[in-house]
Amino acid sequence: MFIANDNFTRLPESYLFSEVARKIKDYEKRNPGCDIIRMDIGDVSIPLAPVVIEEMKKALNDMGTPAGFHGYGPEQGYLFLRELIADFDYSKRGISNIDSGDIFISDGAKSDIGNLGDLFGRNVSIGIASPAYPVYIDAAIMAGRAGNKIHLLPCTANNCFKPEIPDKPIDVIYLCYPNNPTGVALSREELKGWIDYALRNKSLIIYDSAYEAYVRDEEIPHSVYEIEGADKVAIEVRSFSKTAGFTGVRCGYTVVPESLDFSFEDGSRASLNKMWNRRQSTKFNGVGYIVQRGAAALYTPEGRAYIKETTDTYMGNASSLRNALLSMGYRVVGGENSPYVWFSADNGMDSWQLFSMILENAHLSSTPGSGFGKEGEGYLRFTGFNTPANTSEAISRLKSWFN
Ligand code: MLT
Repeated sequence: MFIANDNFTRLPESYLFSEVARKIKDYEKRNPGCDIIRMDIGDVSIPLAPVVIEEMKKALNDMGTPAGFHGYGPEQGYLFLRELIADFDYSKRGISNIDSGDIFISDGAKSDIGNLGDLFGRNVSIGIASPAYPVYIDAAIMAGRAGNKIHLLPCTANNCFKPEIPDKPIDVIYLCYPNNPTGVALSREELKGWIDYALRNKSLIIYDSAYEAYVRDEEIPHSVYEIEGADKVAIEVRSFSKTAGFTGVRCGYTVVPESLDFSFEDGSRASLNKMWNRRQSTKFNGVGYIVQRGAAALYTPEGRAYIKETTDTYMGNASSLRNALLSMGYRVVGGENSPYVWFSADNGMDSWQLFSMILENAHLSSTPGSGFGKEGEGYLRFTGFNTPANTSEAISRLKSWFN
């Protein structure tokens, strides 16, 4: 007799962003013609860079010729892209211990974050900041790790939304900086505290740096491997979605260094790099050649200029939202070194009530903070990913509704 995975019964009924989209659709149905400005899911609005389009067109033409046709590619990703990543994102930034063999191309950060649990031993304890990107906890619950194996690390106004380093060993810790959802960033010194903790306790850190391209402050690291020793304890997950408009194209990468220093239960060395390679070769057939050629174009001078320009635009939006909310008396963090703005009205309303109030009165969508964990209750998240014109219109609506 087939028995279904009852871990699913421990999950919220639907995934956070699906629930937000459903509520917006529902409102639109009841109020036909209303023009809602979307500032909920972090979906981007600026089209792909011309150089990406050109390279993808060339790759598509290649695919129609006997010499340029590509069938199954390497599950780890094409070497041309892995070498560019190793060079531009690591070596040229002064990180010499990451090479192309440590890099695995994926269809985006979400899938890898959901799948990395395949590497964990059965009984590992897991530390997850609260609030956090919901995939960390939902994936852990699906894998049967609910209950006392999951430790929530509270991030509240009292600790400036930065989790405190635990006073006991936790086996796996998820960190995301600049943070989704709060937009808060960690300094190099603060990140070093986590790497030292992981080295002391032989913990694995899953470092989600999907938003690193938004870092402008010199004191804030772009990569976990800027910290000495991180290549022994940390896996880094990155995405081209939020930096290069790839949300609909799908491409990212995960760094699983060969130098990670972990063991199996019997004490023998476990190469997480080889295990991830084994996992990917079994369950994944790699990202399409055309997409990887498009991603490689991001490392040309034109591609890099495009990333700088688009991330500047989104950060301009986030900063305007931050200033507007501050001027209206909201408690606000984020919007600096990050496309996300996290705020609370401090008026006793819960996140979903606030979400509905702003949706109904200003026709703006947001993401309820409680959807990222109970410490997010009473907060909302806005994204800076809409167009500058829509963002200014959103700010005017907020201000006129507020006055
Ligand atoms: C978010 O809005 O938090 C992200 O867009 C979700 C994602 O990247 O999957």
